[in-house]
Amino acid sequence: MTISDTTVAIVGTGNIGSRLAANFAAGGQDFLLAGRDQEAARKIASTLDDHAEAVSIDEAIERADVLVLAVWFDTSKQLITEYGERLVGKVVIDPSNPVAPGDDGAFHKVIGDQESSGQILANLLPTGARLVKAFGTLSADTLSTAAWREPERAVQFYATDDDSAGDLVAELIRADGYEPVRVGGLDKSIRIEAFGDLHELGALGRVVTRPEALTTL
Ligand SMILES: NC(=O)c1ccc[n+]([C@@H]2O[C@H](COP(=O)([O-])OP(=O)(O)OC[C@H]3O[C@@H](n4cnc5c(N)ncnc54)[C@H](OP(=O)(O)O)[C@@H]3O)[C@@H](O)[C@H]2O)c1
Repeated sequence: MTISDTTVAIVGTGNIGSRLAANFAAGGQDFLLAGRDQEAARKIASTLDDHAEAVSIDEAIERADVLVLAVWFDTSKQLITEYGERLVGKVVIDPSNPVAPGDDGAFHKVIGDQESSGQILANLLPTGARLVKAFGTLSADTLSTAAWREPERAVQFYATDDDSAGDLVAELIRADGYEPVRVGGLDKSIRIEAFGDLHELGALGRVVTRPEALTTL
């Protein structure tokens, strides 16, 4: 199966959802765009040259083979719990960074230091749904500004335990204007989440090309 045989949906129309939507449209990728505020989804879709179809979250879950959950970690947990068995057979992409602002105003992890949201969400999915960690390693601003970089594409890392799901997401990363680099299985999710060593805002601290990325793995 290739990405052209699948229906892709973005759930969430905030910073990441709207920027991914713009990048996909620029890459010629058609997709469903779902938000709890359907008017916001319609408004964004209307700017994307017919590449996006605004739908409800329920319809996106029904129709999509590949779902990007462009929502916060807690909302992803809620959606996975709510839609449960309806996710069987689907590829679920998790861009979440499990962080929240503390009393000091700085962001802190909301899960254990050694835990990753990718692994936690994967464990919540029903058997037969496959999770890929992707699209959360760059800030929303960078996601827009570093897309389609010339002469060498910037990298987006991804992690998954499932090769075929990973191949689909690699295609989507290309449609997003980036070069895909797999960091490994879901046990490596933590490396590409906030505070991970390969996160733009972590030790890596910048956008990298494939040769640079490969030296860090
Ligand atoms: N922002 C970044 O720079 C960045 C970078 C990397 C990864 N991420 C990750 O990407 C994810 C999305 O971040 P974001 O910055 O795009 O957040 P955001 O701008 O706050 O957007 C969140 C989206 O989730 C929707 N939402 C909230 N609660 C919901 C619910 N109960 N059911 C359905 N939809 C709900 C919101 O809908 P409404 O508009 O109706 O509230 C909105 O469309 C997060 O997990 C974050 O950690 C963000």
